[in-house]
Amino acid sequence: MDTTNGSLNRKLRMALVGGGSGSFIGRVHATAAVLDNRAALVAGALSSDPVRAKSSAAGYDIPLDRAYASYQELIDSELAKPATERIDFLTIATPNHMHFPVAKAAVEAGFNVVCDKPMTFDLAQAEELQKLVEKSGVVFAVTHNYTGYPLVRQAREMVQNGELGEIQCIRSNYIQGWLRTRLESSDQKQAAWRTDPTRSGAAGCFGDIGTHAYNLGRYISGLLPKQISCHLRTFETGRALDDYGHAVIQFENGALGTVTASQVTHGRENDVTIEVDGTKGAIQWRQENPNELIVRRNGSAHQIYTRDPNAPYFLPLAKSSCRLPSGHPEAFFEAFANIYRAAFDAMILRIEGKSFETKNTIYPNVYDGVEGMYFIQQSVASSRENGAWLPLQHQAARK
Ligand SMILES: NC(=O)c1ccc[n+]([C@@H]2O[C@H](COP(=O)([O-])OP(=O)(O)OC[C@H]3O[C@@H](n4cnc5c(N)ncnc54)[C@H](O)[C@@H]3O)[C@@H](O)[C@H]2O)c1
Repeated sequence: MDTTNGSLNRKLRMALVGGGSGSFIGRVHATAAVLDNRAALVAGALSSDPVRAKSSAAGYDIPLDRAYASYQELIDSELAKPATERIDFLTIATPNHMHFPVAKAAVEAGFNVVCDKPMTFDLAQAEELQKLVEKSGVVFAVTHNYTGYPLVRQAREMVQNGELGEIQCIRSNYIQGWLRTRLESSDQKQAAWRTDPTRSGAAGCFGDIGTHAYNLGRYISGLLPKQISCHLRTFETGRALDDYGHAVIQFENGALGTVTASQVTHGRENDVTIEVDGTKGAIQWRQENPNELIVRRNGSAHQIYTRDPNAPYFLPLAKSSCRLPSGHPEAFFEAFANIYRAAFDAMILRIEGKSFETKNTIYPNVYDGVEGMYFIQQSVASSRENGAWLPLQHQAARK
């Protein structure tokens, strides 16, 4: 992966949709995208409220004439600018129900897109978006950001190299506790839309964080899913969507996986943990301690791989995903920036009229987004049928 914009010799111009004052992930995108000095945030439609959209711009140093009242105005106005000024890509950091309309408009206008997860509101929108992206030829990244951690990439490369043998079991958990009370009844911004089926989608907790856990298992193992059996629950009385769930996944090679997601576990913060068991070894990674990967083999002392780009065991993609020497902690922002870094490489190839990979990309892409939406749809459907086994392999799945 490149760390400069090479012969392009300029920064990529970014627009942000969402990220208005009081919001969460837009600020993370704006920070991660510029971490390597390869992009500049020049335009935004930062809020659903036109007044707040403009007033939030100062916090990002977006000039007032490019602080737009709506995403439609942003796209129309940017398209009208000369190519030398116009944005190169647009990041979507709105609640889920707004991902598709913004992404569709941006893709149809020919802009590259970085979209947060879950990619759309439902599977039909995701499948339509896949077709639009294929037709337009834009770069489309989805921020399943946990795949950007160096030691997650190390784990994936170890699986690919056969170091763990055949993969037989995957346990992937995302455990939070912040929705143990009905924060949504006090109109807490992030809780309000996440627990609202008209804005979140068919699932609550399973769409919000279960989909990250599922994606992580797919990314590290590379195994193709076959079937899913799922049980979702809403433990907080009066809440409209699930706040807890378990899924069992059968993979094509016979492996078994589980996804557990909770937003109601006292004291848990953003505990994304994955364990992958192979015939030759087992690994464990935890995002709350992201610079360590535990590798275990019966009869040998347990090994802790640290994020050390100079260590002989550190594999190429993991190595190129580091910015700092070992011991200086890298974490959430850097992992997010690694998604941007790979997407930028593709955007530059597109700008230069060169061909670029669209399916087996380093960054999660529109196909992974479709898979995520299929996972949500099938989880909800299986749970409604009391855990019935349903198909889980979408034709868009990476092989
Ligand atoms: N990848 C991750 O780790 C991660 C983490 C958190 C959230 N997310 C995802 O990011 C998205 C946003 O989550 P959040 O927690 O930041 O939500 P949030 O409620 O904190 O912020 C959403 C922002 O979008 C704005 N918005 C809403 N409709 C808009 C519109 N039509 N035009 C412009 N702006 C609009 C809101 O005004 C607000 O500023 C969600 O899809 C969520 O699932 C991803």
